[in-house]
Amino acid sequence: MSHRSDSMNRRDFVAGSLATSTALLASTQASAQVVPLHCVPPLSPVQGVLFEPPTGGPMRVRKSVFELTPSEITRLKAAYAALRNVYRDDPRSWYNQGLVHCWYCSGALDNLNGMEVHGGWVFLAWHRAYLYFHERILGQLIGDPTFALPYWDWDSCSDDPSDMTGRNRFPGEVYGFPGEASNPLFDPTRNVGPTERIPPVFVGPTLMRPIKNAASFPEFGGSGNTELPRRTPDVGDLQQMGQLEQTPHGIVHVWTTEPTLTSRTPVPNMGALASAAFDPVFFAHHANIDRLWDEWAQGKGHANPDNPRWLQQVFLFYDQLQTWTGMLINQVIDPVVSLSYRYQPPNWTPPTPAGGPPAPVAAARVAPRLAQAAPLSAPLVELSTGTQPKTLLPRATTVQVAMPAPTRAAINALAAPASPQQLVLRIDGVEIPADRQVVVQVFVNRPDITAAVRGPERGYVGSIVIVPATAATAGHVHGTVERNFGFALTPEIAASLASQENISVTLVPLAGATGGPPEVFRYRRVYLAAR
Ligand code: C2O
Repeated sequence: MSHRSDSMNRRDFVAGSLATSTALLASTQASAQVVPLHCVPPLSPVQGVLFEPPTGGPMRVRKSVFELTPSEITRLKAAYAALRNVYRDDPRSWYNQGLVHCWYCSGALDNLNGMEVHGGWVFLAWHRAYLYFHERILGQLIGDPTFALPYWDWDSCSDDPSDMTGRNRFPGEVYGFPGEASNPLFDPTRNVGPTERIPPVFVGPTLMRPIKNAASFPEFGGSGNTELPRRTPDVGDLQQMGQLEQTPHGIVHVWTTEPTLTSRTPVPNMGALASAAFDPVFFAHHANIDRLWDEWAQGKGHANPDNPRWLQQVFLFYDQLQTWTGMLINQVIDPVVSLSYRYQPPNWTPPTPAGGPPAPVAAARVAPRLAQAAPLSAPLVELSTGTQPKTLLPRATTVQVAMPAPTRAAINALAAPASPQQLVLRIDGVEIPADRQVVVQVFVNRPDITAAVRGPERGYVGSIVIVPATAATAGHVHGTVERNFGFALTPEIAASLASQENISVTLVPLAGATGGPPEVFRYRRVYLAAR
């Protein structure tokens, strides 16, 4: 355990983190337009104190943003108004709160050693810790120990792209639609009005069902290692972005600033990781990600990793008293017990329930069964390999290989209902420049699909969505983002493979009206494995 440092002061903070950006920060309005660079945590871990779970305070209840009462909306606005008024050099200030997110996304890939919390297994835990401190700071500023962040339940929607009743829309009544600049929850870089909808193919029930039922944490929340320091995630068999992060999480970021999803040019704030947390809706988006993790972890047979390197990973934040505080992943696993908050489930039902009542949600919290994350098997089928990166954009690409009989037999066994393993489609070494965004839909055995779809489609397994580390407006950015993606195949898709002599994977980018510049998306390897 480390001890409280007396050396923490404002000057260290400014020198370590803000000096390069200070000139750009004339006002809150200006800072909303700026993508930070050179962001690293201002103090070292040994200068922090270890987090102690709150005792005796009220349980905070996080509700859907669509279900807030008028007084809860007023309270939320008052909290952010207070935050925007905190003196900028205070570590809890609006700008510094947003900058914390940049500290942990590789310092916007600017060649400084920042930790990367995206694309692997610390993604969920880091964001839970971040929201915890953010919520405490907001509550402290308005003197309300019951203050709770709302969540934006974009997954409360149907599969029908023309259905306008779901919550796959921007919660503008609270956070403000374009033009509502006097709302403290408003952000000028958003571009979504009341009629835009996130296509259900990215957030709807057909996409979400396998994610919510993911059998293992690596599929749901990612896998990887946390060796530090490093600028970009390891690209090895270990590292994989979890399915919650790779499709729905990414699309909400990109969509909020670019609702057509077709531009390769990211728009701050939500559209780039370095600036995302300068938009207050970031915290409602991530509260939903956090809620979905909480719900998943309570599901039957689901377990968080028991790997000590995961459990003992520490993240540092300023708390509501400006104390530099280290929080272990071990300390965030059960929000009710150690963080004193819980989620009130959304009160939303689909307009036309098809196929019977929805699957019951586990009623009781199951104590985490600390299962070891299952390793990925050797590839069963290699669809594409080689050291030469392959260019995808701007057209749809299909890779196809023959499956010999023994492979089909192996797949057949894995597809059986009693099989303890599952088939995983891996797309490794996906690489784009750090200031480009990418949305690519992935299909198995659908070489006929040549254009992106908006609703569920047979053979669709999910999408690759890369939220860029930074935006071109930051200027002078080097580096690339490289990630591995894994898509667990549903039993139906797995079973369909066993009867085919070939397997194909089709990658369909969402192309802009004028087409994107070529050669901005590369991948190294496509293969099928078991987990
Ligand atoms: Cu740290 Cu939604 O990203």
